[in-house]
Amino acid sequence: MKILVTGGAGFIGSHTAIELISKGHTPVIADNFSNSEKWILGRLEEISQQEIIFYEGDCSDGNFLAEVFSREKNIAGAIHFAAKKAVGESMEKPLIYYKNNLLSLIVLLETMQEFGVKNLVFSSSATVYGEPGSCPIPETAPRQKAASPYGNTKVICEDIISDSVFGGKNISAISLRYFNPIGAHPSGLIGELPIGIPNNLVPYVTQAAAGIREKLTVFGNDYPTPDGSGVRDFIHVVDLAQAHIKTLEYLEKQNTPFYDVFNVGTGQGNSVLEIIQTFEKVNGVEVPYEIGPRRPGDIATCFADPQKIEKTLGWKTEKTLEESLIDAWKWQNYLT
Ligand code: UD1
Repeated sequence: MKILVTGGAGFIGSHTAIELISKGHTPVIADNFSNSEKWILGRLEEISQQEIIFYEGDCSDGNFLAEVFSREKNIAGAIHFAAKKAVGESMEKPLIYYKNNLLSLIVLLETMQEFGVKNLVFSSSATVYGEPGSCPIPETAPRQKAASPYGNTKVICEDIISDSVFGGKNISAISLRYFNPIGAHPSGLIGELPIGIPNNLVPYVTQAAAGIREKLTVFGNDYPTPDGSGVRDFIHVVDLAQAHIKTLEYLEKQNTPFYDVFNVGTGQGNSVLEIIQTFEKVNGVEVPYEIGPRRPGDIATCFADPQKIEKTLGWKTEKTLEESLIDAWKWQNYLT
C-alpha cells in the first residue's frame, strides 16, 4: 500500500516509514520540517536502501495536500503524525497549538474525502486519560480534560475523527494512544531530536550521560510509588512504529466506516529511578542526577492495559526496556 505519512521526518514518523518499507509498503512523507531535519530523509534512504518519496509543506494547507494526493496516485491511507507536541510551549501559546493541530487534521480529513482515501491512523496519546483512577489503564477508562492545551488537542482530534467516521463520510480510522515512546532505531541512524533543553525523560538522561547537561533532575521522590519517583510505560519506538502498520492492515480489511481506539504500551510500569539505574547498567555510563521538586501537572503512575490491541491486532511489544535504553544511547553517541 502507498501510505501518506504526515510528519514522517519526525521521531515516530521516521521509524514508522522504515517499518512500512520493511513490510512492503511505500511511505509518502509530508513534512514542513518545523520540528525535524531534512537529513533524516537521507538516513531513511540509508537504512532502507531505497529512494524516499517526500513533499515539503504544511498539512494545514489544503492546496499542498491536494497536490500530494493528486501527484501520488493510489494513496490507500494516511498516518497523521504532523502536530506540535511540547506540553510547556502549549501552555504559553495555546492558540498556536489549537490552530495547528486541529486545522491540519481537518484539512487532511477533507482532502482524504475529496480524493476517496479511506483509512486514517491518528497519533493520539495517553494524555487523554488525564489523571487515571487506576492502572493499568484500559481504553474504557474515561477521557478527561488534559492538563495542557497540547493534551486537549488530542482529545478534540479524537472527537473530530470519530464524528467524521460516524458522519458517514466513508472514512475509517483508529486513534492510537501512545504511552511513553523512547529508544531509537537499532542502527543508531535515526532517533529523537529534541530542540533545546529536552522536556522528556530519556533524551535528558542521554544528554546528562553525554555531559551535554550538568545533571538530570528527578522531578519528585515523594509519589505514592515503590521508590517515590514517577512511574511510566516506556515503549520502544520501533515496537510503536510496528503497531501503526498492523493498524493500517486491520483498517484495510474493514468494509464499512469504522472507528476505534487502541492503547499502545508495554503494560509495564517503570520508575524514573529505575530508568536511570537500568541506563547506567546496560550502557556502563554514569547519569549524574539530583532529586528535585515535583513538576507541575505530572501524575504519579501511568501505564497501559494493552490487551485490546494484542487481542485485536496480534500486536505486542517485542523489545525490552534494556534494548530501548541501549538504542537511545547509541543514537546519542551518533549525534555527539
Ligand atoms: C509527557 C507529556 C505527555 C506527552 C508525552 C510525550 C506532560 C505532563 N506530559 O509525558 O502529554 O504525550 O510526554 O512523550 O508533560 N522526568 C524527570 N526529569 C526530567 C524529565 C522527566 O524526573 O527531566 C520524569 C517526569 O516527572 C515523569 C517521567 O520522568 O515522571 C516521564 O516524563 P516525560 O518523559 O516528560 O513524559 P510524561 O510526563 O509522562
